Formats: sequence, C-alpha cells, structure tokens
Amino acid sequence: MLNKNIPIPLYYQLKERLTQTIREGELQPGALMPSERELSDRYGISRMTVRQALGEMVKEGLLVREQGKGTFVAEPKIDQPLLRLTSFSEDMRSRGMKPDSRILAIYTEEAAQSVAAALNLGQNRQVLVLERVRLADSKPMAFEVSHLPLARFPELEQEDLHSVSLYTLLEEKHGLQIKFARQVIEVGLSDRSNSEALGISVKSPVLLIERVTFDGDEQPFEYVSSVYRGDRYKLQVELHR
Ligand code: GLP
Repeated sequence: MLNKNIPIPLYYQLKERLTQTIREGELQPGALMPSERELSDRYGISRMTVRQALGEMVKEGLLVREQGKGTFVAEPKIDQPLLRLTSFSEDMRSRGMKPDSRILAIYTEEAAQSVAAALNLGQNRQVLVLERVRLADSKPMAFEVSHLPLARFPELEQEDLHSVSLYTLLEEKHGLQIKFARQVIEVGLSDRSNSEALGISVKSPVLLIERVTFDGDEQPFEYVSSVYRGDRYKLQVELHR
C-alpha cells in the first residue's frame, strides 16, 4: 500500500513502486500495464493520481502508450559505450541478444559527392550500397545504409549478406584489418521510410550516426549512415581529466 501519512506525493510513491516492479522483472518488457481503474482500486487512490504517475513514466521512457491498445512496459535501452570500434553483431552478442539483419536493398551506384569524399574515391566512384534493418532478438534497433568502394570488394555483391556480420565477413573472408572509425552522432526525428523500417511512428526521436571506417593502411573502406531508435539506446562514455 502507499503511505498517505508522509509528505511524499502519492503519484510519486506509485511511480516508484511501479518502477521497482519493472526493474525487478515482475513486469516484463512488452507487458500490458494494469488499467487506471485497476491501479486506483488496488492502491486506494484517485484515477487522476494514477494518470499522473503513468504519464511521468511514459515521459521517462519506462512505459509506452499505444493508441487504442493500452500502456505497455517499454523495452530497456541499450547502454552503448562510445570508445571502442565494434560491430552491431558484437554489441548485441555481448549483451546476450541475438543480432540479425533484414536486407532491404543491395545495389551499386555512383557515389554522391559527399560519400566519394568520405571514402577518398578517385575516378572510379562506384560503390556497393547495403540497406539493412538491424535486429536484436528479432526487434528492429537501427536502420543502416553502408557504402563500400566496389573496386575493393567486387565479389561482395554476390555473397550472402543475410544475417551475417559485415565486419566478420570482411575480416575473415577478405582479410581486412579494421583499425579505427570516425563517427558523428546527431539527434533527429525519424522520417516516413525509416519509421516504417524501424516499426516506430513518424517523427520519433532517433540518433543519426555517420561512420567512416578505416583499414590497416588508414584508408577508408566504409561510409555508413544510420538511424538508431532513440527509445532503445543511450550512449555512455567515461571521461577523464
Ligand atoms: C555498427 C556500425 C556500422 C557498421 C556495423 C557492422 O552497426 N554503426 O557502421 O557497419 O556496425 O555491423 P555487422 O558487422 O554486425 O554487420
């Protein structure tokens, strides 16, 4: 029960209580929350108080509201460290999740000016473009469009790129050394096409990540622009002074 005799607002006590049940796994991600009426009966408080507690939890990303369906426990965010060059597959495996990809398109094209500049391409500006939805435990996390110089990886287009790690393939099959990357992260809103790919509503908060990755000779070999779900990621970095 909540304590009506202490100066802590009831909505706040309820919020703490519900947050704890989620943290302890009593309410699992994806679970439907009890209705406002059920919660107000159970805790002996007004529906307005329940609404305030749930509203704050939605704002904090602990709960998600789905129009006409109800309020659900949100999937937890992935804590993504920023200092190591890792692949999506490695990131997910290290958290005990199963990485996967849904390939939306593979094609070759002449690189746009900005891509050609990032990849340091000369006369030959043909690139292989790979559009993938990245999944963790079958749930969409990110949408990535990778550009690789075709002249360097001419066989890649013929390979089975479904459900494989691009980095593992390049390292193990193509003997590539992946040395470092430069990455820029911006906040943005999802547009119609990536919202559909990610299963989120249009104009949801997302992280826009651009990466240029370099090989052992410090030559760029991939340019990737990605859209990461803002509700599934938080970035983490250790700062020294
Ligand atoms: C991350 C990076 C991408 C990179 C990918 C490789 O998602 N943001 O720039 O291309 O990892 O992942 P994988 O080896 O799993 O295909």
